[in-house]
Amino acid sequence: MSFPYKHVLVIGATSGIGRAMADRLVQAGVKVTAVGRRKDRLDEFVQKHGEQMASAVPFDISVQENIPKFAAEIIDSYPDVDCLFLNAGIQLPFELDDRGQFDLEPFNKQMNVNYSSLVALTHAFLPFLIEKKSPTSIIFTGSNVAIVPAAAMPAYSASKAALNVFTLSLRDQLQNSNVAVIEILPPAVQTEIHLYMGEEICRKLGMPLDTFADLAFKGLIAGQDQIVIGSIGPAERFNAIVDQRRTAFEDLADVMRAQQK
Ligand SMILES: NC(=O)c1ccc[n+]([C@@H]2O[C@H](COP(=O)([O-])OP(=O)(O)OC[C@H]3O[C@@H](n4cnc5c(N)ncnc54)[C@H](OP(=O)(O)O)[C@@H]3O)[C@@H](O)[C@H]2O)c1
Repeated sequence: MSFPYKHVLVIGATSGIGRAMADRLVQAGVKVTAVGRRKDRLDEFVQKHGEQMASAVPFDISVQENIPKFAAEIIDSYPDVDCLFLNAGIQLPFELDDRGQFDLEPFNKQMNVNYSSLVALTHAFLPFLIEKKSPTSIIFTGSNVAIVPAAAMPAYSASKAALNVFTLSLRDQLQNSNVAVIEILPPAVQTEIHLYMGEEICRKLGMPLDTFADLAFKGLIAGQDQIVIGSIGPAERFNAIVDQRRTAFEDLADVMRAQQK
């Protein structure tokens, strides 16, 4: 099998997982439009792959009121986009135990970038994807901590859990459409997202980026709609939680559909 989409809009393509996946997509003959805030990284991506295969648009997804205009401009400039890869994310340290005075700003910022902005992007692009005559898809980068939350990262874990619920629901509701909904659930991966812990820890924390990107790309090519890589705790227990929760979710969706008939 090969990757079935022709032009992917990768949001969060300037470093780490997004950049590694964008490189693999181009190498597989897929056009990529890269998005992120760091223009120097975007320019370098286009320079590396050439304007035939790569283009770039700087954009800050956290400013939600700008998302409809951003989407309209992308649709106008790149009408052949058939896959939206929502990968952008941030992780910030968070202390809840400071006598009720914990800072709401970083909490809300993570919920906004990792969840609400991705919902707003889905909202802005969905009519365009649904109208296409050919298969299209939305790929989300979630996290293992969506399934088993990390106590030290309550906002990050909550944002990924919310995204997981949104992904499951979107997939269910779009099951009779041309839009496939794909979720990648990475373990800790060696990327800049952990830089707040210091460069030394960041370099060594988690799976090497290339190993992860190879596995994720393999899952995409195999047509998996939920690509679980790594686990929190024993793999057997973790995968059983993911599978049983999904089965329970799908059973509930079927029951509710039957009740509405
Ligand atoms: N690394 C891990 O251990 C791990 C584990 C599980 C899941 N993930 C998820 O994987 C995804 C990618 O993270 P990564 O590990 O590759 O980290 P990364 O190297 O820090 O990459 C994050 C990407 O998100 C973009 N981004 C962040 N805020 C943005 C904003 N406001 N507007 C536009 N783009 C924004 C960044 O671009 P700019 O800074 O240029 O804007 C960058 O391209 C995230 O969703 C993360 O939660 C990572």
